[in-house]
Amino acid sequence: MKSLFHLAVLCLSLFCLVLGGCRKQEKVADTKTGSFILGFSQIGAESAWRGGNTRSVQEAAAAAGIQLLYFNAEQKQENQIKALRSFIAYQVDVIAFVPIVSDGWEHVLSEARDARIPVLICDREIDILNDSLYSGYIGTNSLRQGQKSAEFLLKKFTGNPEGNWDKDRPIRIVELSGTEGSSVVVKRAEGFREVLAEYHSGEPEIKFEIIYSESGDFLRSKGYELMNLILDKLQDIDVIYSHNDSMTLGVIDVMKERGIKPGVDIVIVTIDAEQAAIEALMRGEVNCVVECNPMQGPDIIRLATLLAKGEPIPKISYMNEEVFEEGDDLSGLPPRGY
Ligand code: AHR
Repeated sequence: MKSLFHLAVLCLSLFCLVLGGCRKQEKVADTKTGSFILGFSQIGAESAWRGGNTRSVQEAAAAAGIQLLYFNAEQKQENQIKALRSFIAYQVDVIAFVPIVSDGWEHVLSEARDARIPVLICDREIDILNDSLYSGYIGTNSLRQGQKSAEFLLKKFTGNPEGNWDKDRPIRIVELSGTEGSSVVVKRAEGFREVLAEYHSGEPEIKFEIIYSESGDFLRSKGYELMNLILDKLQDIDVIYSHNDSMTLGVIDVMKERGIKPGVDIVIVTIDAEQAAIEALMRGEVNCVVECNPMQGPDIIRLATLLAKGEPIPKISYMNEEVFEEGDDLSGLPPRGY
């Protein structure tokens, strides 16, 4: 029994030695070929948007010949922290991750710093006192997305005095947000309110009121569930401001089941620009789609490559993102791919 145990220990040691040897060889190859090991922690698969984001990273890594260690955190921060620790233990060259929420990263990022592994924050931002614990951020500009959503509403309602809503009361807005504590939710809410507050600081003829705000966790099923509850308890809803397309699709299902015409009886502004939302916009069931660009893979790989070479990168890089509105000619828009 004892000798079996010794044999197992010996095999394990040999395995580690071989692994260590391979790692050394790869390190030597790094400088010549530009190839390196990237540990990437994704948050999950909550939406078609997220699927597109994951594919974009995987395809860009494969095209660049970079070895990607991929972990799906299944919507749990603790799983992400474990993944980051395993990247550190494996001594990857660069760590990239999508932080599910913005707080709580200090410890694990200090561990990455102590191991001299540069960290690239992707898609969502983090809130941290010591921002030297990460090298840079590449992703979406969620504050702008909130602002663009409100700007569309100002244009829609103030530019249309003949519109068929009740002029004796404020425009009643229902907001559906996503994962609580995520930077995108905080900033989409902030940007939206900022623009409305600035408009109200003048002498507006039309007023806007957010009458209800709730998280639907970025899920279509939750969007569906929430919209049923909302319609049971609230009347005279003029606008749905939805933080992502998945929830919006659930909302549209409910409206149709209840004989409410989406995009006509209730104005819908949605964020992401998945193919399904663009098609809903073209059918007139959605009024405005604010793009959140998931095709971050090529930029993530470009920045990670610089980090692997020890070169500096910008602290913040935002993706290019557009707005699609009712009345736009979208016939030439290429398929979104997600
Ligand atoms: O972080 C980006 C957001 O996360 C997208 O808007 C949403 O669809 C996804 O789940």
